[in-house]
Amino acid sequence: MTRALRADVLVVGSGIAGLTAALRAARTSRVLLVTKGAIDASATAKAQGGIAGALHPEDSPAQHAADTLIAGAGLCLEDAVRVLCEEGPARIRELIDLGVAFDRVEGDAEKHGLPYAMGLEGAHSRPRILHAGGDATGRAIEDALVRAVRRAPIEVLERTALVDLLVAGPSSARSGPGAARVSETPGVPAGTFCPAARDEEYQSANPGGRGHGNERGHASRAVGAAFLRADGTPLEVRAGAVVLATGGAGQLFSHTTNPEVATGDGVAAAWRAGARVADLEFVQFHPTALTGSAFLVSEAVRGEGAVLRDAEGRRFMPDIDPRAELAPRDVVARAIARVMAAQHGRPVLLDATDIGRAELARRFPTIDAAVRAAGLDWATQPIPVTPAAHYAMGGIRTDLDGRTSLPSLFAAGECACTGVHGANRLASNSLLEGAVFGARAGEIAAVEAAWTTAGSDAEADAAPAAAFAALAAVPAAGPAWTRRDLQELMWEHVGLLRTGDQLAHAARVLDGWSAPAPSTVAAVEDRNLLHLARLTVAAARARTASAGAHHRLDDPSAPEASPAPVLEPHTAPAAR
Ligand code: SIN
Repeated sequence: MTRALRADVLVVGSGIAGLTAALRAARTSRVLLVTKGAIDASATAKAQGGIAGALHPEDSPAQHAADTLIAGAGLCLEDAVRVLCEEGPARIRELIDLGVAFDRVEGDAEKHGLPYAMGLEGAHSRPRILHAGGDATGRAIEDALVRAVRRAPIEVLERTALVDLLVAGPSSARSGPGAARVSETPGVPAGTFCPAARDEEYQSANPGGRGHGNERGHASRAVGAAFLRADGTPLEVRAGAVVLATGGAGQLFSHTTNPEVATGDGVAAAWRAGARVADLEFVQFHPTALTGSAFLVSEAVRGEGAVLRDAEGRRFMPDIDPRAELAPRDVVARAIARVMAAQHGRPVLLDATDIGRAELARRFPTIDAAVRAAGLDWATQPIPVTPAAHYAMGGIRTDLDGRTSLPSLFAAGECACTGVHGANRLASNSLLEGAVFGARAGEIAAVEAAWTTAGSDAEADAAPAAAFAALAAVPAAGPAWTRRDLQELMWEHVGLLRTGDQLAHAARVLDGWSAPAPSTVAAVEDRNLLHLARLTVAAARARTASAGAHHRLDDPSAPEASPAPVLEPHTAPAAR
């Protein structure tokens, strides 16, 4: 017998976007927050560099927006960027009010124009990154938000994985076994995908980005979700509105800075339910993960003066871009890939020795500890670094209030595609996005829930409990595969530098694999990873021209067109 719960607003995910959405919605609604791991096991908690915001008197939202648009390689949605940069400072002040102790300037705060220290990262035209605990910004934000959620009248359910959305209405067959059947058709998306920046149909159907109704014109809507608890118990939640804040999908790749929970659950479930997804081809590879562990070495280290060198010790970035090590992230990551290819896969070196031992330990205590744990001394020697999958620019397509194309379904944070990041996210805009659009989505979801819960119990009861039939579905026969197989395929063929042939090969392999029945949490994740891998490859094949983080080596107009270099970076670091 499946246990069933009810809420006005169901929030799935507990990073900055989910926690913020829950807090906002709880001002007026009964909120249930469900999360796959422990409440604080999110990508937010791992964020190092900080949160960007135009708080300094000499800065402005317009300047921050201009930097965001440039980094996004011309594919950002300007309205979304404007909202992000204009509302960002107020959301950061709310975090301060919740107790986030951002690092302060030493000495005369008046002279600095702001009591908070501001870091510099790639493609920012001025220092505007607030940080806490040196390089533990995400942890400070996560902890403050979790404390606030614990104080608020919000019910929290941990260790509970999203299986599928419950959809009522004419297309409800798409959730549950219907969804499983459709999604088993290789390369045929249940929802649709299209580039956010060219999404004219969506924009005209949703004037001002505030429209309603999904692209198929159905009256179907999300009425809750089916979950699987870590102990194997199924759970059904009925809600007036659902907010997905499930984060990214770095686990698609064998080398990632993301936590293990980042398996794209919300995006895959939204797509199976028929919601529109967009920009999945834009995957950001962070330039500097510590070789061997993929532990993130924050861009803020380069902001403090560290430089990149090849295996012979030569600095290479100034020859590639006038912004050198602080060029946009996609430019730096590609440059590293090329240098690595030229030196037969050996990692490049991040030289932070000029920063000095005391300052490295003070400003970057988390990284300092990780580097030492790897047996390296970065105060005296450059450390080996390589790119690793870091952030999904694409996701569930939303308007400016987090509405998706499926009524009563909202999305915020990394799982959403608001269009703020275009083809390449500006450093430290991700926490900001979670705060700004999490608040918007939570607020409007509560309004939505007030409408839908008023007279919809009968409709909710008609929702397909059959979603649980998927748990026991027998997967179609096909070659056996493991998550590691999928991650390696994606790393090698759908990575930082792509060709049509590589993508076609990945599509063929993925099409031959069947999704497992989602009867355990690991199987739920594997099914999501397979669906998302297919969608990512399909999106990457559809975009034949390079843009930002999506770099096609077979695009003759790409400045760096040439055969794909082989990246085999993640061998154990040699202590030098
Ligand atoms: C970093 O600290 O380099 C990562 C920050 C981000 O992803 O924006």
